[in-house]
Amino acid sequence: MSHKRTLVTAGLPYSNGRLHVGHMGGAYLPADTYVRYLRARGHEVLYICGSDDNGVASLISSRKENRPVEELTADYNARQKADFDGLGISFDVFGGTHQPDYVETHERRSQTIFNAIADKGFFEKKTTRQLYDVEAGQFLPDRYVKGGCYHKRADGTDCDNDSAYGDQCEACGNAIEPLELKNPVSTITGSVPEARDTTHWYLKLGSFEKQLGEWLESKREARPGYPAWREWVLNFCLGQIKQGLPERAMTRDLDWGVPVPLDDPDAAGKVLYVWFDAPIGYVSFTEKLLAGKGDDWKRWWQDPECRIAHFIGEDNTVFHALIWPAMLMAEGNYQLPWQVVANAFLNMKFPGADEQKISKSRGNAIWIEDYLKRFDPDPLRYYLTSIAPEKNRTAFDIDDFIARNNGELVNALGNFINRSMIFAGKYFEGKVPDAGARNEVDETQLKALADARDEVTSLIEQFRFKAASEALMALARTANGYFDAKAPWKQRKEDLAACGTTINVCLQTVHTLCTLMAPFMPFSAERCAGMLKIDPALPWDGATAELPGGHGLGEPEILFKKLDADELFGEDAG
Ligand code: 2FM
Ligand code: ZN
Repeated sequence: MSHKRTLVTAGLPYSNGRLHVGHMGGAYLPADTYVRYLRARGHEVLYICGSDDNGVASLISSRKENRPVEELTADYNARQKADFDGLGISFDVFGGTHQPDYVETHERRSQTIFNAIADKGFFEKKTTRQLYDVEAGQFLPDRYVKGGCYHKRADGTDCDNDSAYGDQCEACGNAIEPLELKNPVSTITGSVPEARDTTHWYLKLGSFEKQLGEWLESKREARPGYPAWREWVLNFCLGQIKQGLPERAMTRDLDWGVPVPLDDPDAAGKVLYVWFDAPIGYVSFTEKLLAGKGDDWKRWWQDPECRIAHFIGEDNTVFHALIWPAMLMAEGNYQLPWQVVANAFLNMKFPGADEQKISKSRGNAIWIEDYLKRFDPDPLRYYLTSIAPEKNRTAFDIDDFIARNNGELVNALGNFINRSMIFAGKYFEGKVPDAGARNEVDETQLKALADARDEVTSLIEQFRFKAASEALMALARTANGYFDAKAPWKQRKEDLAACGTTINVCLQTVHTLCTLMAPFMPFSAERCAGMLKIDPALPWDGATAELPGGHGLGEPEILFKKLDADELFGEDAG
């Protein structure tokens, strides 16, 4: 790896609701795993996130919940922050585009970028017809209007979604021009809107088609330090460029958001489009985090030595891999994303039922807040990684969650760590026994540690977290195989020194497992490091460094517990 500094972001959650397992598995958890890995490698890294407070989504919820939008967004910001903390998502900053401590920096940065793009002539001011709700007395940007999608799917068939929002169709992923929606209806009053004139500033995306196309094409080939982007992300974006990138309005007729900073009477009372200011949140939160350090934030955003990785859900792909890079190209001073790590959506599968999309109205989401009231974070982190929708949609299957917890975490990983620790405690005075004379079986096991470390490292660097956690679990299985083959319970009676050699290798294995599992299951790794009495920072380079004979150990603890489906999601769970 040639770069030593990495800025990682995860899509800013709208502060109008709670977070469920799909949100976590899609962006925050893989980003956290990556960040924890980089920190363990000793890299300089920042993990940036915060709430997406502006725009129509929060306004709609504020009406629904009948409370001021400032109060609503502050409340959900705090609740989301608690969910992230509970799951060990280790942001360096969790800001919010309209949160009291961040709003000033955010508005200034957003307006500065808007003005720079305007000065370079990449906006076109246009007056067009837009949908207007006469009853509500306002225009209907974005989610304020719903109607039938007019796009074709990637396979050429018509998209049949009849309730596409005015910004994006959630079924086919395409951007929506509200005026083209079939049978549009206001989501404020339910009335049929009429078209009226209004003026907005449009980003000339067409000017960047060639540059974006070449840039995206360059992401197909993996080079050292530059893993290839996921193929479906590239194909989707290049497909959009092929169809042509229409100009997109970057301002809105709303009174909630970042005011349009132009000295133009037509701009009065208008705000920036939420998808213009939201990604700038990544910048403004960095700036706020590093406030007092002058221009230090530029080392992260404007210096080619820094790599910028955005982790997102599939519906954010257009915005992060096309529109945001086009904004940055237009502005001219910022680094383009090094990686856009997008995941597909996660479905839910309850016992005896079919797989379903996660939806609030169906009530089938597993909310993080509820989960954490009763269970440990690591089993959820582990399961979400093991089903990561890296290539296509996958399902959170309750039976599978229980089976993997009990079969993999408890019976394989936890059992190996526990039996090794118990043995050392009982028969070797709670110390690492001397290595003694190792035979081929011992050496093979030690080689497996180095191989697993290399494999997990390489997979994480390719953003293949699911495969990396499989490699971790494969090592736990190999370790149990080693323990069974050496049968230290027999060796103890026949040859205590040979038994010591076995337990020594087992404890070296526990050390490696502990280091490699830390990015995935940080809480258990920390407890395991406590049992081994080693540096809780678990430096990656020390993953296979040997614990010396005589090293004192702590008390063995049970790391993982068996779970029961009924206890988790049965009638009396809650
Ligand atoms: O889809 C969403 O939840 C958006 N709020 C993500 C915004 S990501 C960004 F650019 F800030
Ligand atoms: Zn559609």
